[in-house]
Amino acid sequence: MNEKQRLESQQINQSNNPAQKKEKDYSQYFQTVYTPPSLKDARRRGREEVKYHNDFEIDEKFQGMGIGRKFYIRTYGCQMNEHDTEVMAGIFMGLGYEPTETVEDADVILLNTCAIRENAENKVFGELGHLKSLKLEKPDLLLGVCGCMSQQESVVNRILEKHQFVDMIFGTHNIHRLPDILHEAYMSKEMVVEVWSKEGDVIENLPKVRRGNIKAWVNIMYGCDKFCTYCIVPFTRGKERSRLPEDIIQEVRQLAAHGYKEITLLGQNVNAYGKDFEDRDYRFGDLMDDLRKINIPRVRFTTSHPRDFDDHLIEVLAKKGNMVEHIHLPVQSGSSDILKIMGRKYTREQYLELVRKIKAAIPDVSLSTDIIVGFPNETDEQFEETMSLYREVGFEIAYTFIYSPREGTPAAKMKDNVSMEVKKARLQRLNDLVNELSREAMKKYEGQIVEVLVEGESKNNPEILSGYTRKSKLVNFKGPKSAIGQLVKVKINESKTWTLDGEMVEELESAEVI
Ligand code: 5AD
Ligand code: SF4
Repeated sequence: MNEKQRLESQQINQSNNPAQKKEKDYSQYFQTVYTPPSLKDARRRGREEVKYHNDFEIDEKFQGMGIGRKFYIRTYGCQMNEHDTEVMAGIFMGLGYEPTETVEDADVILLNTCAIRENAENKVFGELGHLKSLKLEKPDLLLGVCGCMSQQESVVNRILEKHQFVDMIFGTHNIHRLPDILHEAYMSKEMVVEVWSKEGDVIENLPKVRRGNIKAWVNIMYGCDKFCTYCIVPFTRGKERSRLPEDIIQEVRQLAAHGYKEITLLGQNVNAYGKDFEDRDYRFGDLMDDLRKINIPRVRFTTSHPRDFDDHLIEVLAKKGNMVEHIHLPVQSGSSDILKIMGRKYTREQYLELVRKIKAAIPDVSLSTDIIVGFPNETDEQFEETMSLYREVGFEIAYTFIYSPREGTPAAKMKDNVSMEVKKARLQRLNDLVNELSREAMKKYEGQIVEVLVEGESKNNPEILSGYTRKSKLVNFKGPKSAIGQLVKVKINESKTWTLDGEMVEELESAEVI
């Protein structure tokens, strides 16, 4: 029987199996013990102690598994996923695999998925449809689904039912098990499913292959305990657990020593950092204060929660140096009533007060945000409050979304009387405002000199270089290739809604650089 026939027969056998139809017991179809992610358990998460591990190694029996084989990882979603991909790439390389840029050339394909909104999920299912034909053409190809979607029971069941050509499904807490999962997938004809609802420990010494050598991501914590009522993340990423400061500081020092110019600290809620430490009183402000002393030009972080943004953190950020003047501070809504139902645990007034404090300490700060429109039963007045808050704060940029119900979250059970048409119209109005304020903010740069970390040639024109300012503005400019990877000064000649155009200038001591 060839692989195509085997897959077809497996599909027929599975769909004809009466036991499966009745009880949905999938355990017979895969080898690894599968504990479905449980939303109930996630909510009941206790103060289980986090275990720190420093003993990751590739077992001798797996060494060389990837020799002569190539891997391809497609990443969806946020920076956390991008960084997980860097770790998985590190494990693949440790096993002897080589990377490839095309799916046709790959021996293993992983889809590192995102579950934040429905359209993110739809993209992955669409891609699985495309990859099915490749899998049928190339029976030895291994196809895996990992990341946030695989932490959802409904998604795992859908793949088991409708996409049986998938070879592996593994969750966000199982990345370090990649060598075992691959080994099992090679040995077995069944789908290997390994998803733990268990929160996950902190594993320190996983290998990483970073993309690029100018900017780097550094995880400082994992998971989220906020349980905003619309959000799936606390379920897919588990409970909050912080890396130890000494491990983070060492990683940043090493990056600085290797010539990296910018790091972005990652966490679902970075300023809850340290709240889970039992033996020390060390929070995000303390960590930033320690990182401030390291010789790396720029330190960013994403994402922060207004509720945990304390005065000490503001004080440290105001010391400037490598603490950049850009803060991403998701507000989600400008209406206190909606914020309450969202479970955000702050009011419009408290958010505005926080902004006032930040601006008082850092007058030239640039603020950006995330906003959800069309939350269940959002009224016109409540939406107008979001519009007025946006203007009042003077955000320079925002990521805006239409609310997307996520199965298992409290908001998904709410009745919603707002039509999609109204939600789309609100999003359009908000986006017009976002564009207007961005244009205004960019206009102010005309004639100014900015500091740009040069990342490379511009996507559209190799004659032009591009990079970002401290406040995360994209600058395109004429300059020598030798500037790539360096911090240079650029005079802005023209501003557009999202980008600035300019030319590189020699250092001018007298001119103010922003
Ligand atoms: N629907 C729409 N947007 C969402 N976000 C999170 N969950 C949802 C959802 N269910 C948005 C929030 C968050 C950003 C990363 O994604 O604005 O800050
Ligand atoms: Fe989701 Fe809220 Fe946690 Fe952010 S803080 S990841 S929106 S639950």
